[in-house]
Amino acid sequence: MKVFGVIGYPVSHSLSPVMHNAALRHLGIPAVYGAFEVGPEDLPAAISGVRALGIGGLSVTVPHKEAVMAWLDEIDPVAERIGAVNTVVNREGCLFGTNTDWLGVKRSLLEAGVELSGKKAVVVGAGGAARAVVYALCELGAEVEIYNRTFPKAEKLARDFGGRAYALSEIIKASGEIIIQTTSVGLKSWKSPVPKEVFENFQVAMDIVYVPLKTRFLSEAEAAGCQTIDGLKMLVYQGAEQFKLFTGYEPPVELMYQEALRSLHG
Ligand code: ATR
Repeated sequence: MKVFGVIGYPVSHSLSPVMHNAALRHLGIPAVYGAFEVGPEDLPAAISGVRALGIGGLSVTVPHKEAVMAWLDEIDPVAERIGAVNTVVNREGCLFGTNTDWLGVKRSLLEAGVELSGKKAVVVGAGGAARAVVYALCELGAEVEIYNRTFPKAEKLARDFGGRAYALSEIIKASGEIIIQTTSVGLKSWKSPVPKEVFENFQVAMDIVYVPLKTRFLSEAEAAGCQTIDGLKMLVYQGAEQFKLFTGYEPPVELMYQEALRSLHG
């Protein structure tokens, strides 16, 4: 029986256990996936525990995605470039860190039929989550514009990946194929970081927040006629990529999405 799990702080609301366990059960893989609440001060001990117990792999969530990098044996260059590890795979005692968040973004866009090569993509926010989003957009050949409340952070992100930086106060002038919301503004609150008039300048709107599933940002985008992509897609697809790395099997992605949705609506 193999053991996998997610580490985070807090971790009790993570949807990863339901998604991964549903996929493991569906494929008849003899493994379990747990949730481990690990405070920042306990991270080194937790990673030692992974080695000592032979845990097969970890999903890594807030606040450990950057800090965990110091305790691993090998890090994928893409994760290095994004500056965050959300996946640890135990390869016969060698802990390998990688990042599937950007793959979750990429697959969400591809599955929605969004073609971004040579097109303008606007990102709202410049925090940790925005880095994986911007990386995915660059990989898809988009021309990226980053709008952030704290302008120097947008500038840094634009410098790191290529793109143009703007202050969030200028968002009303933004236009392009897609606008992607990466801030925490709509999380568990009926707020949006952008005025609804901005959606007239876009075809597609995506939010990485999934609580609520239909954020104010997505509702206003939909009302303006945009195609919308919810944040649960990215979560499920990044988890599906982890599942492949953990088990070597292609996961039942639709089942994972439905289980995550069910758990979200509780
Ligand atoms: P995460 O890792 O989830 O991206 P983060 O690194 O703390 O979290 O980044 C949060 C993002 O939400 C930032 O872009 C932040 O803007 P600042 O860089 O100006 O702090 C953005 N954000 C948070 N609260 C905001 C608010 N009330 N208005 C606009 N942007 C906000």
